[in-house]
Amino acid sequence: MTKFAPGPNNLWEIIKTVFKRQTDPMKFYHDTFSQFGDIAYIRIGKQGFLMLNDADAIEQVLQTDAKIYTKSTAYERFKLIFGKGLLVSEGDLWKRQRRLMAGAFTNRSVEKIHPLIIEETQTMMSKWEDSSEIDLAEEMNFITLQIITKSMLGELEESESKIVRSAVQEMLKYLQTNRHLWLQLFLNLLPIKDKLSMALKIETSLPLKSTKRFFKSIEAVDELVNRMIEKRRKQNLNENLIDMLIKVTDDDQSVMTNQQLRDEVMNILIAGHETTSNALSWTFHQLLKYPDVLKKVEEEIAQFIKGETPTYEELSKLPYTQAMFLESMRLYPPFWRISRRATENTTIQGYEVPAGTNVIASIFTVQRSGKYWKDPTEFRPERFLEGAEEHHRFAFIPFGGGPRICIGANMAMTEAITILASCLKNFTFTKNFNKDPNFLLSLTMQPKEGCKVKTQRKKL
Ligand code: HEM
Repeated sequence: MTKFAPGPNNLWEIIKTVFKRQTDPMKFYHDTFSQFGDIAYIRIGKQGFLMLNDADAIEQVLQTDAKIYTKSTAYERFKLIFGKGLLVSEGDLWKRQRRLMAGAFTNRSVEKIHPLIIEETQTMMSKWEDSSEIDLAEEMNFITLQIITKSMLGELEESESKIVRSAVQEMLKYLQTNRHLWLQLFLNLLPIKDKLSMALKIETSLPLKSTKRFFKSIEAVDELVNRMIEKRRKQNLNENLIDMLIKVTDDDQSVMTNQQLRDEVMNILIAGHETTSNALSWTFHQLLKYPDVLKKVEEEIAQFIKGETPTYEELSKLPYTQAMFLESMRLYPPFWRISRRATENTTIQGYEVPAGTNVIASIFTVQRSGKYWKDPTEFRPERFLEGAEEHHRFAFIPFGGGPRICIGANMAMTEAITILASCLKNFTFTKNFNKDPNFLLSLTMQPKEGCKVKTQRKKL
C-alpha cells in the first residue's frame, strides 16, 4: 500500500508551515527538507503540495513522466500577463508553439543578435564615468530589457521604450505580491469549490492603486505590441524576432494569430529579461566576493578577447568565464523553483501523488544539496570545466529540464558572457557592500539590495 511522503500532520504544524511559507519561503523550503527529508508532503485544506529536493524525483516529474504533469496552479495568476504564451500553455497548443518558435532561438538566430548585445553594452559602459557609483543590478535590468525588446520588436521610439519598461516593471511588481495566497488561505475556510479562481477574481477586483496601475500598463503594452504586429505584417520585414514569428508557418500553412503573437511577445519580454538580469547581478556579487575567481576570469578575458568587447567567435574561448557563470547560477538560480500539477494519480519513489497535487521542484536547495555536490556552498567554477566530476543532470537545472526546458538558454548564455566579458575587460568594480544580499522572491530570485559598486575604467 502506498503512503504519503512525510510532512506536517497536525493543525498547529500546518498553520506554522503556512505562515513560514508566506513570510520567508526560503527558510520554509530549507526547514521542511531538514525536518522531513528530500520528499515532503503538505496538505492545506483540500490542496496537496509535494516538495522535491531529490534529483531522481525531479527527473521523474520534469522528464520521465512529463506527460502526466501540467504547469501548476501557481501559473494561473501569470496568465493575466502571459495569456496562452509558451511559458504557460499546455498540450497541443504548447507543442505547436514550441515547434514554431524553435527557429527563433537557434545558434544562428542568437548569433544574429550578438551585434545588438555589443551595441547596447557599449552604450551602457559609455555612461559609466570613472569612480561613478552605479547599481549593477539596475544596469543589468535596463540592458537586458533593452536587448530583448529590440531583438524582438526592433528600434523603438523613446516614448515606446518607456511604455515597455514601465509595463514590465508594473507586471513584475504585481507578481511580487502574494495577496492571492492569503486570500486562498482565507477561502479555505469557506465551502467554495474553485478557491484559486475565486482568489484571483477577488484580487483583480480590489480597488487598489497598484491593481489599477497593473491593468493600465498591460493595456498600454498590448496596444503597442498589437500596433507593431499590424505594422510589421503589412511591411513584410525580415529583421527581428517578431518578423520571424509573424512569418513562420505550421505544416498546414497556418500562421500565428495576432493574439497568440501578442502572448508570445509578452512571454519572451518577461522570461527573457528578468532571469538574465538577475543571473548577471548575482554573478557580479559572487565575483566581487571571490577575488581569486575574479582574477582568473579577468586573465582569461585579457588573453582571449582582442578588442574592447568579444566577437561572437571569441565567446567560445572563455570556458572559465562560462563555468563561473554556471556556478553562480548553481548557487543563485534566477528561477528558484519549478512547479507542476499531477493530472492523474501516480507515485514518486513509492509515495502517493493524487491527481491535482502541486509538485514543486526546489531548484535552489537541490543545487546546494550535499547529496549531489561536494562542499555545496563553496563558489567553485572548476565544477563546470571539462573533465570535472560528473553531477546528476537534475541536480543542476537553472534552465529547467525535460520537454519544457528553457527555449532561450542559448541566448541567455551568449548575452551574459558577452556582457560580463565586456564589463570586466573595460572596468574595475569596487564594492561598497560587505554582506551577502537578501533574497527578493517573485517569479525569480533577485538580490534585494541590488549590487552597488564604484567603477574605474581600465587602461587597455
Ligand atoms: C539566465 C537566464 C534564464 C534562466 C535562468 C531561465 C530559466 C528558465 C526555466 C527554469 C524555465 C522552465 C520553467 C518551467 O519548466 O516551468 C524556462 C522556460 C522558458 N524560458 Fe527561460 N531562462 C532564462 C532566459 C531566457 C531567455 C533569454 C528567454 C527568451 C528570450 C527565455 C524564454 C523562456 C521561455 C519562452 C520558456 C518557456 C518554455 C516552454 O515552456 O516551452 N528564457 N526558463
